[in-house]
Amino acid sequence: MKSTFQIPFTSKLLLLLFAKSSFSALLSSPRELAKSKYDFVIVGGGTAGSVIASRLTEDSSVKVLVVEAGISHVGLLNVEVPFLSTSIQPGTAIDWNYTTVAQAGLDNRTVSIPRGHVLGGSSSTNVLVWNRGSNDVWDHWSNITKDERWSWNAIEPYYLKTNHMTTPADKHNTTGQFDPSAYGSGPLDISLPGYPTELDGRVLNTSKSLGGRVKYTQDLNSGDLVGFSYIQSTIGNGERSSSATAYLEPALDRSNLDVLINTRAIRLVANETQAGTPVFTGVELVQGPQDTPIRVTASNEIVLCGGSIGTPQLLLLSGVGPKEELTTLGIDPVLDIPDVGKNLIDHPLVPTYYQVADNATTFDDLLRSADLFNQTLAQWQNDKQGLFVNSPSNTYGFLQLPDEAFVNQTNPAAGPLSANTEILFGDGFAPLGTLTQPLMGRFITILTAVVSPTSRGSITLNSSDPFEQPLINPGILTTEFDMNAMVQAVKDSQQFIHTSPYWDDFFLGPYGDLASAETDEERIELIRKEAVTIYHPVGTASMSPKEAKWGVTDPELRVKGARGLRVVDASIFPHIPECHIQALVYTVAERAADMIKEAYNYTKRCEARKEDSESAKFSYDLRALDSHFRDAST
Ligand SMILES: Cc1cc2nc3c(=O)[nH]c(=O)nc-3n(C[C@H](O)[C@H](O)[C@H](O)COP(=O)(O)OP(=O)(O)OC[C@H]3O[C@@H](n4cnc5c(N)ncnc54)[C@H](O)[C@@H]3O)c2cc1C
Ligand SMILES: *[C@@H]1O[C@H](CO)[C@@H](O)[C@H](O)[C@H]1NC(C)=O
Ligand SMILES: *[C@@H]1O[C@H](CO)[C@@H](O)[C@H](O)[C@H]1NC(C)=O
Ligand SMILES: *[C@@H]1O[C@H](CO)[C@@H](O)[C@H](O)[C@H]1NC(C)=O
Ligand SMILES: *[C@@H]1O[C@H](CO)[C@@H](O)[C@H](O)[C@H]1NC(C)=O
Ligand SMILES: *[C@@H]1O[C@H](CO)[C@@H](O)[C@H](O)[C@H]1NC(C)=O
Ligand SMILES: *[C@@H]1O[C@H](CO)[C@@H](O)[C@H](O)[C@H]1NC(C)=O
Ligand SMILES: *[C@@H]1O[C@H](CO)[C@@H](O)[C@H](O)[C@H]1NC(C)=O
Ligand SMILES: *[C@@H]1O[C@H](CO)[C@@H](O)[C@H](O)[C@H]1NC(C)=O
Ligand SMILES: *[C@@H]1O[C@H](CO)[C@@H](O)[C@H](O)[C@H]1NC(C)=O
Ligand SMILES: *[C@@H]1O[C@H](CO)[C@@H](O)[C@H](O)[C@H]1NC(C)=O
Ligand SMILES: *[C@@H]1O[C@H](CO)[C@@H](O)[C@H](O)[C@H]1NC(C)=O
Repeated sequence: MKSTFQIPFTSKLLLLLFAKSSFSALLSSPRELAKSKYDFVIVGGGTAGSVIASRLTEDSSVKVLVVEAGISHVGLLNVEVPFLSTSIQPGTAIDWNYTTVAQAGLDNRTVSIPRGHVLGGSSSTNVLVWNRGSNDVWDHWSNITKDERWSWNAIEPYYLKTNHMTTPADKHNTTGQFDPSAYGSGPLDISLPGYPTELDGRVLNTSKSLGGRVKYTQDLNSGDLVGFSYIQSTIGNGERSSSATAYLEPALDRSNLDVLINTRAIRLVANETQAGTPVFTGVELVQGPQDTPIRVTASNEIVLCGGSIGTPQLLLLSGVGPKEELTTLGIDPVLDIPDVGKNLIDHPLVPTYYQVADNATTFDDLLRSADLFNQTLAQWQNDKQGLFVNSPSNTYGFLQLPDEAFVNQTNPAAGPLSANTEILFGDGFAPLGTLTQPLMGRFITILTAVVSPTSRGSITLNSSDPFEQPLINPGILTTEFDMNAMVQAVKDSQQFIHTSPYWDDFFLGPYGDLASAETDEERIELIRKEAVTIYHPVGTASMSPKEAKWGVTDPELRVKGARGLRVVDASIFPHIPECHIQALVYTVAERAADMIKEAYNYTKRCEARKEDSESAKFSYDLRALDSHFRDAST
C-alpha cells in the first residue's frame, strides 16, 4: 500500500539531501546539556510543544528544556515545499513509521499512521490545511468539560493569537475569497492557494449553483464549518509555516531555552508522593535503546506534548494508566487511570479517481517526469512560484448527512455548525489507497472522509520496551454509522461532479472500481479494501470535568491525581473536531500556555509569601501549599 504520492526517483534522492542545522541553541545530545534542572521540561518539540516553549520563555527568568525525539526541520525540502508534503514517506528520518494493528473495519488490513519525527512535529509534515473548528466544537468541549474557558467566546482570543492571513504566492487579489475577521495577528502564516488549478472554478461554481447540502461558504474559519470553499493553508511566501518556523525558531536565541533533538523521553519519574499524590519531576532521556538513561528535573512542571500516540505511550511506560494492563507488562503502576490510551478517534478517508480530458492540466505529468519535476522545483527555489507553492488540494467541502441518516441515530457531530463528511479535490492522481498512478492519462482524485465518526479505538503497550511501537488501533470504520456516512460521501461527491454544467468538457469517466461501483454493497466492499485515515488521531488523554472519574486530564490539562504533570497536544481532545485539526492543537496550546503561566505565577506568589513569613524551618513543600490554596479557592 502506498500512503503518499509517488515522485520521480532522482528527485527523491534530491530530497534526502538536507542542510545541517544553523542553530547554535540546538543541542543534539543530552551530554551537551549544561544543566539538568529546569523550571519546565517539555516532552516533544512538535505542534503544541513548540508553542508552549515559545510562550513560557517569554519570561526570561523561566528556564525551559524541550526534548524532541526527531531531527531538526531546517533545510528539509520536503518539509519546506508545500506540495511535497505528500512525498513524506513513512520510514524516513522525519516520520515515526507507525503502523496500525489489523483493522477489523478494513478487512483486517493494517494502515500506516504518519507522525512527524522532527521539530514542529506533525505541523512540519502535514498537508497544511487550516481549520479552527466550528463554534460548536468549542462549545461542545466546554459542555463536556463543564468549563467555560473552552467555549468559543472564551477561546477566540487564543485562536487569534496563533495566526495571521498573508498574501498568496501569486499575489492575486483575494478580496471576497476569505473573511478577514477569521484571522488574527499571531506568528503562523495562513494563505489562500498561490497557484490556481483548473479544478478550483469548477468546484466553487458548482457549489454556488447547487446550494443546499453543497452550499458555498466563503470562509470555513468563520464559525460555520459546513459548505464548500477555497482551502486556507499554513503557507507564507510559498513556504510551509509550522510551529517550528513560526514559534520555535524565533525563540531559539533566548538564553532560557534549551532544545534537545534526537533524544527520546522514555519515562517520567515521580520522585515523591504527597498524601497519595505522585509528584512528577524527573524525565529519563536516551538516544538509543542501549543508552543508560540521563535524568533531567522539572522543578515546576513536566509538559507532555508527545501527540496522540507518543503521549499515552509515555504515560503508560511511566506507570500512569490502567493498573492491570501495566502490571501484566511488568510496569510498576504509579497512578491508576483506566482511560490512558483509550478513546482513540480518527477520520477515515477513501480516494476515488476520475479520468479527465487529455487537454486538462493536472499534476499527473509532473509525477511521471523527473525533468518536469525539476523545473517545477527550480521555479519554487528561484521565485517561490508555481504548483509547488500549493498544498495538493485547493478546494474542498464539508457536508451534513441527509436527515434520514438520523432517524435511529443521534447526530454525533458537535452541533448544527459542524458537518459529517468531507470531500477534497486533488488535481491529479494521488495514490493514497491501493491503486497506483496509471502510466498515461490525466486524472483527478476525490478524497472523501467521515469527519464525525462514532468508531473508537485505543493505544496500548505491546511491551515495556520504549523503542517498540505501541499497538495502535484506531478502529477505522467499525460502526455502521461510519460506513453509511462514507458511502453517502462517495455518492455525494459523484453527484456533485455529474449534475452541473461546469464539468462537461472535463470528464472522461470514472477510474477504478469504487468510482464505477453501482450498488451500496459494492461500495462497502471496496471502501473496506481502499480506506485509510486522514491522520487526525485524538482523544487518548482526554480532558474531562474536574471531578469526573473518566478521562485523563482535568480542564486545565493536568493529569488527574498527579502533580507536576500536564498534557498539551491532540490527545486531550474530548471529541474529534469535524475538520482538519492542527489549528485546534495550536489554539489548545496557546490556551494552555496561559494556564501554565497562571499556575506558575501562583506558585511564585506562594514562594514569596513563604519567604516573607520566614517559615522555611518547617520546610513544607510548595507544591502541597499550592494544591491546598487551589483546592480552597475552587
Ligand atoms: C501526514 C499528515 C497530514 C496531516 N494533514 C493535516 C492537515 O492538512 N491539516 C490539519 O489541520 N492537520 C493535519 N494533520 C494533523 C495535524 O498535523 C496533527 O494533528 C497535529 O500536528 C498534532 O499535533 P501534536 O502537538 O498533538 O503532535 P505532533 O505535532 O505530532 O508532536 C508530537 C512531537 O512529540 C515528539 N515525541 C513523541 N514522543 C516523544 C518522546 N517520547 N520523546 C521525545 N519526543 C517525543 C514527536 O517526535 C513530535 O515532534 C496531518 C497529520 C499528518 C501526520
Ligand atoms: C517501517 O515499518 C515497517 C513495518 O511496520 C518495517 O518493515 C520497516 O522496516 C520500517 N522502516 C523503518 C525505516 O524503520
Ligand atoms: C479478521 O480477523 C478476525 C480475527 O482474527 C477474523 O475473525 C475475521 O474473520 C477476519 N476478517 C476478515 C475479513 O478476514
Ligand atoms: C451546550 O449545552 C447547552 C446547555 O445544555 C446546550 O443548549 C447547547 O446546545 C450545548 N452546545 C453544544 C455545542 O454542545
Ligand atoms: C480586489 O478586488 C476587489 C473586488 O473584487 C476590488 O474592490 C479591489 O479594488 C481589488 N483590489 C486591488 C488591489 O486590485
Ligand atoms: C466560474 O464562475 C466565474 C464567475 O462567474 C467564471 O469567471 C469562471 O469562468 C467560472 N469557471 C468555470 C470553470 O466555469
Ligand atoms: C523531588 O524533586 C524536586 C524537584 O527537584 C525537589 O524539590 C524535591 O525535594 C524532591 N523530593 C525528594 C523526596 O527527593
Ligand atoms: C534534477 O536536478 C538535480 C539537481 O539540480 C540534478 O542533479 C538532476 O540531474 C536533475 N534531473 C533531471 C532528470 O533533470
Ligand atoms: C430505524 O429502525 C427501525 C427499527 O429497527 C427500522 O425498521 C428502520 O428501517 C430504521 N430506519 C432507518 C432509516 O435506518
Ligand atoms: C507485539 O509483540 C509481539 C510479541 O513480541 C510481536 O510478535 C508483535 O509483532 C508485536 N506487535 C506489533 C504490532 O509490534
Ligand atoms: C478540451 O477538450 C474538450 C473536448 O474533449 C473540449 O470540449 C474543451 O473545450 C477543451 N478545453 C480546452 C481548454 O481546450
Ligand atoms: C504572570 O505574572 C507576570 C509577571 O508578574 C504577568 O506579567 C503575567 O501577566 C502573569 N500571567 C498570567 C497568565 O497570570
